[in-house]
Amino acid sequence: MKKEFLYQGKAKRIFQTEEEDEVLVEFKDDATAFDGRKKGFIENKGYFNCSISSLLFKHLEEKGVNTHFLEQVGPNSMLARKLDIIPLEVVMRNIVAGSLKRRLGQPEGFPLSQPVLELYYKNDEFGDPMINDYHIRVMEWATGEELDRMKELAFRINFELTARFRILGIDLVDLKLEFGRFKGNILLADEISPDTCRFWKQDTGERLDKDRFRQDLGDVSQAYENILKLLKGESN
Ligand code: TMP
Ligand code: ASP
Repeated sequence: MKKEFLYQGKAKRIFQTEEEDEVLVEFKDDATAFDGRKKGFIENKGYFNCSISSLLFKHLEEKGVNTHFLEQVGPNSMLARKLDIIPLEVVMRNIVAGSLKRRLGQPEGFPLSQPVLELYYKNDEFGDPMINDYHIRVMEWATGEELDRMKELAFRINFELTARFRILGIDLVDLKLEFGRFKGNILLADEISPDTCRFWKQDTGERLDKDRFRQDLGDVSQAYENILKLLKGESN
């Protein structure tokens, strides 16, 4: 199915397939944090993140959100539409954690009365700086119309995924989304996984996401596996 290697990021490799507008996305076990300054390896992360993302993309498609996802074709690979990626990270937050602690001066776990949307320029060299609508328009990373669409989708996706995880006993604390253009539409791209979301167990507060790697909390791979099992209904 792979025809030609196109490029790789820190967590995935992208290959052209026989179909001009389709790519194969291969998820790696490599883990990085803090703009790549911390490097490591999480056992079977490629499999967990590919499978979790596939299930969540399918769920969102069922809820009417268009994504790049086509099909999971191997343990750590999925077929996706080939998008023109917009170089932005759209972060949605429901509970204070991570970098928001320092921005708002509120403690970790502080519930936000409404979801907060943040925009970042996806560029490791500059440390993914936080930006706003004016930066995006002046740099022509997206049009005003595209930006409005991404914001609308980000709120919807956050709403749907919060509901999906709530019934599994998990708080969706925050998540990072990326979008791309495909035949005149804006589609959800990249992945939705414990690398790109914060998941907290409601009863124990246990962290089931990449914060276990960032903060050296141990049992990293088990946390990712837990999320997959919950989504597959093989809960614990
Ligand atoms: P932050 O609190 O570090 O700003 O992260 C917010 C959310 O975005 C969290 O779920 C982790 C995710 N994220 C990424 O997926 N990639 C990144 O480069 C960063 C900084 C955060
Ligand atoms: N994904 C980013 C990195 O690899 C940051 C993070 O998730 O903490 O550096």
